[in-house]
Amino acid sequence: MTATVSEEKAGSRGDLPPVPDGAVTVTLKILRFNAEVDSEPRWESFNVPALPTDRVLNLLHYVKWYVDGTLTFRRSCAHGICGSDAMQINGVNRLGCKVLVKDLMSGGGKPTTITVAPIKGLPVHKDLLVDMEPFMEAFKAVKPFLITYGNEPTRERIQSAHDRERFDDTTKCILCACCTTSCPVFWNEGSYFGPAAIVNAHRFIFDSRDEGAEERLDILNDAEGVWRCRTTFNCTDACPRGIQVTKAIQEVKRALLFRR
Ligand code: SF4
Ligand code: SF4
Ligand code: FES
Repeated sequence: MTATVSEEKAGSRGDLPPVPDGAVTVTLKILRFNAEVDSEPRWESFNVPALPTDRVLNLLHYVKWYVDGTLTFRRSCAHGICGSDAMQINGVNRLGCKVLVKDLMSGGGKPTTITVAPIKGLPVHKDLLVDMEPFMEAFKAVKPFLITYGNEPTRERIQSAHDRERFDDTTKCILCACCTTSCPVFWNEGSYFGPAAIVNAHRFIFDSRDEGAEERLDILNDAEGVWRCRTTFNCTDACPRGIQVTKAIQEVKRALLFRR
């Protein structure tokens, strides 16, 4: 169903805002689900005025604030920092706040349709809002914190720039779940820890100040761990922080084989 804004029920802010100069009408097609009334997810389309410099998150805000206040999704920072708004945009895992409309526009003045759906492999609570608990459980299982035994330091724990560099890439993770929910192994075998958990284990396994690497490697060596990875690179392609996810997984595998 394509509903123009005037046909839709009003969002919480009521009146529509003025359409800015240079705006084009984009069809925003959203995969919606409300367990109270739907037995299956259903597509619903909205015509939204958009500037090329708008982000997909702006279009979702427009629908929520001015058209249908029941639309449900997560977001917080709106600047690619918090990792709250992972979603499938035109079938690809992305952060809604980082994808610009101009990068999705049809060429040659043709009408533009943008599809938005929840990330795959996690239970959907409502619309784009998924249950992140299984994802966070996997994250917590790899002990993503500094572990030290005895030897309480009397001053800060010094680390060389070279040693810091060893795990720099994996410190950038914002736990958005774009990687894990693009992984076919995670979709098909939900017990797999998934790439995000392994990235966060990597961040500490290769930290020269940490003494818990063996524990984490033992955890990742089991049936749900790194050996499930099929090196398909979906996770690396999906990461909005540009982390070399598959490379990090390979490094953890190598650490297991040679114990670092
Ligand atoms: S490289 Fe491994 S973890 Fe990443 S998507 Fe492929 S199978 Fe999943
Ligand atoms: S590794 Fe990248 S895609 Fe995966 S959770 Fe972290 S920031 Fe998101
Ligand atoms: S809303 Fe924070 S990363 Fe998009």
